[in-house]
Amino acid sequence: MSFDLEAVRAQFPALALTDNGTRRIYFDNPAGTQVPVSVAAAMSDCLLGRNANLGGYFASSKDADAVVEYARDAMADFLNAPSSDEVIFAQNMTTITLHLSRSLGRLLQPGDEILLSQMDHDANVWPWVLLARDLGLEVRWLPFNTETFEFDLDVLDELLSERTRLVCVGGASNLTGTINDVKLICAKARAAGAMTYIDGVQSAPHIATDVQDIGCDFFVCSSYKFFGPHQGILWGRRDVLQQLPPYKVRPAPDELPWCFETGTQSHEGFAGVAAAVDYFASIGETMAAEKAGKWSQFSGRRQHVHAAMDLLFDYEKLLAEHLIDGLRNIAGITVQGITAHDAMERRVPTVSFTHAEVAPQTIAMALAEQNIFVWNGHNYAVEVAKALGIHESGGAVRVGPVHYNSIGEIDELLEALPAVLTP
Ligand SMILES: Cc1ncc(COP(=O)(O)O)c(C=O)c1O
Repeated sequence: MSFDLEAVRAQFPALALTDNGTRRIYFDNPAGTQVPVSVAAAMSDCLLGRNANLGGYFASSKDADAVVEYARDAMADFLNAPSSDEVIFAQNMTTITLHLSRSLGRLLQPGDEILLSQMDHDANVWPWVLLARDLGLEVRWLPFNTETFEFDLDVLDELLSERTRLVCVGGASNLTGTINDVKLICAKARAAGAMTYIDGVQSAPHIATDVQDIGCDFFVCSSYKFFGPHQGILWGRRDVLQQLPPYKVRPAPDELPWCFETGTQSHEGFAGVAAAVDYFASIGETMAAEKAGKWSQFSGRRQHVHAAMDLLFDYEKLLAEHLIDGLRNIAGITVQGITAHDAMERRVPTVSFTHAEVAPQTIAMALAEQNIFVWNGHNYAVEVAKALGIHESGGAVRVGPVHYNSIGEIDELLEALPAVLTP
C-alpha cells in the first residue's frame, strides 16, 4: 500500500472538529501539530496506570521506569542515535538549549568564536548570544542569500577559523522553509575543529533524521512539532557530552543522560513521544514498504520510521508545490522562500508569503474567520525577518501543511485569499 491520506486523517480526532458547522483547516503546524489518538492514549495510560517517580521497588515505579526507557529507545530510533543514553529529554528545545549552553560555555574561553546563522529561529541564536556576552566570546554570522533563500557555503569557509569553537545552524527554517545542508556544514565545522549544534525542530517533522550521517555533535528537536506532546529532545555525541560539566543538583545522577535532565520529568510526555515515533513506524510498516530499501542498514522500528519519513515527504512536496504555485498566481503575493519545482527537495512545506498591500496580521485574522489556521509575524525567526526586510512590516503569513493536510484544503485557502486580499 502507498500513502493513504484518509487512513492517516482518521487517526487525528482534531481534524474532524468543526466550529459552528465549519470544518477546521490546520495550517499552523510549524507552531505545533495535532496528535493521533495513540499519542493521547499513551499519555493517558501513563497518567492513569503508571504514575510514579522513577527508581522505586514497587510496581508503578517500575512501570514508569519502563515508560522512560521505551521512549529513549524510540527517540534513538527516530534520530538514528548510536545509543539511547545520549538522548536527553527536556521541557522544550529552548529550555534545553539555554540549559546546555551553560555547560558548553565551560569549554569556551574569552576570545573564542561562535558561528550563528541569520536563518535560525531565535532559540538557536539568543542563548548563544547571551553566552557570548557572559564569556566574552566573538559572534560571527552566517548570512543567507535573500534571493535564493539558501546559505552560500563558500562564505562559511571564510567565516570558519581556528578560533571557531561552535557552529549553530538549523536543519530547516521555520520561516522560509529552506532545508539546510547540515551534513556539509558539520563536515566543514569539524574540519575547522568546531562543535556543531543543529536545531532540528523544523526538519525533524518532515525529513528523516540520521544524526550519525549528519555528523553533528548536538541535534535538538521538539515532539509537539511531529505529532507528539510538548516535549524537547536533545541528542548529544557521547564523548562531547562526557566533557561537559552538567548543571545539576547533588543527589541527581551523575550518569548520562540523567545528569542533564533537571528535576522530575514529564513521564507522560515521554510516553507521548514514544507513541509519536510509533505512529511514524506504523506508517512505515503499513504504507512505505517501497521506501525501506534505502534504509536497509537499519531494521525494525528504526527502518520503518525512516521509510515513513521519506514517504510522507514525497507527499508533502506535492502539497508544497501546489500551495506555492497557487500563491504565486495571486496578484501582489510574494513567496518568501524557494519556489522552483525542481527544488522542492530543498524545502519543507512551510510556506511564508507577504502581500504588497495587505498586512500579514489582517490576512491571518480574515482566514481565521473562515476557520483556516495560519500564523503571521516573524514567528521568532527574528534575524530571518530582518534579513528579508519584513521585520518592521509585520513579518509574513506562514502556511504550514503537513502530511495530514490535503490538496483540497490548500485549494480552500487559495480560493479564500482573493477576497481576503481585496482592500
Ligand atoms: C526552528 C525552531 N527552533 C526552535 C523552536 C523552539 O522550540 P520550542 O518551542 O520547543 O522551544 C522553534 C519553535 O517554533 C522552531 O520553529
